[in-house]
Amino acid sequence: MATNSQPPPGTGDIFPAEAVSWRAVEDAARRVFNLYGYGEIRTPIFEFTEIFQRGLGNETEVVQKEMYTFEDRGGRSLTLRPEGTAGVMRALSGTDAMNGVENRVYYIGPMFRGERPSAGRRRQFHQVGVENVGRVAPALDAESIAMLCHFLNEIGAGGFKLLLNTRGVPADRKPAEDALREHFAPRIGSMCEDCRMRLERNVWRILDCKQEQCQAHIAAAPDAASLFGSSSREYFDQVCQILSDWDIDFTIEPRLVRGLDYYVHTVFELTHTGLGGQNAIAGGGRYELNLPGMNRPVCGVGFAAGMERLLMVREAMKVPNPELQGPAVYLVSLGAQALSTNRKIAARLRRSGISVMLEAEEKSMKSQMRSADRLKARNVFILGESELTSGQAVLKRMADGSQRTIPLDSLEEILKNEQ
Ligand code: HAM
Repeated sequence: MATNSQPPPGTGDIFPAEAVSWRAVEDAARRVFNLYGYGEIRTPIFEFTEIFQRGLGNETEVVQKEMYTFEDRGGRSLTLRPEGTAGVMRALSGTDAMNGVENRVYYIGPMFRGERPSAGRRRQFHQVGVENVGRVAPALDAESIAMLCHFLNEIGAGGFKLLLNTRGVPADRKPAEDALREHFAPRIGSMCEDCRMRLERNVWRILDCKQEQCQAHIAAAPDAASLFGSSSREYFDQVCQILSDWDIDFTIEPRLVRGLDYYVHTVFELTHTGLGGQNAIAGGGRYELNLPGMNRPVCGVGFAAGMERLLMVREAMKVPNPELQGPAVYLVSLGAQALSTNRKIAARLRRSGISVMLEAEEKSMKSQMRSADRLKARNVFILGESELTSGQAVLKRMADGSQRTIPLDSLEEILKNEQ
């Protein structure tokens, strides 16, 4: 039974001891993406609803069933972002990316989808994503994939499987679409209700259906990519060739269409055996978006990885997580005079970049030592009446319990040398 301390289903609190692992993964993302010339972009958590409807496609599962949509005070429909690409494209549509200038951006932050929560599937989850916007070239698709692999190896999430496919370009899809319709039409009676709609409205979405009753029919579908025109196939061949040249292993998965409708050409997904059911740790591809207010589509290639899933993989792979660092020193005060002096010492130390903890009020020696332990302080400095008179006090190193008496005014120097 839910208590008041529990957050809504499918969301979670991240406490300081866990946040250091999040930070380690985020720092690695920033480091790696910087190596490839990407800069950070921060877009709003919510957008006008039509950005996602037009961007991701009205027939997608995300738009149909999973968006958190509400009205603002003026009656306009807003939606909590279910993914990052559409908002980034909206932001970049006012820039030179529209004129074919390459823009490289990455983002890290929360996304929202009203899915049924399970291990690795959340309603508020976090993505690290990148978008290379403005240019079309197979080498850019390949580089995006290579950078994702680089990042995953960097955080100890190697051992993934890279699945690759092509969606071709819309102008090239007609014969493949006809073949898919021909395949599914006689079987549609035994497929799910959503697929019946998809047959009419967007047959590609059937390939992404997760319903048990549809799987055998999907597995027997023709390989659509082989029916694309030559320009789509040549583009894909080049992407595969570059990846092979760079020794990046991949498996071509002809049924991979991805859950969003904006993809053209290359699509990819990375799975990891370290995860259970929700085994996609990242996905992406090349896309073309024509958002409200744009006079022509903007193109790009990118990916997003799920932070929660990356952390689960790290745990499964037993990657050591960084520990939350305790303060450099805990100041123990014995008496009001000592507490007042320690407050001044604390202010000085903190200004010079040394982390300090001390009690807000007078407490017993025992209780202060307990706090120092609990906070994992690296040193304890003990100040009482007699220490104030003598100008000397004990500094205890918690790792080995060793103690030494030091002049009060040498504390800062000693702690600085330890850092
Ligand atoms: P996506 O495949 O929908 O793609 O999501 C990317 C990743 O986000 C997934 O592989 C998964 O790790 C994580 N994820 C998605 N939904 C959930 C959830 N409910 N709970 C936990 N993790 C989840 C996109 O979002 C595209 N915008 C990626 C992209 C960027 N394509 C081009 N550029």
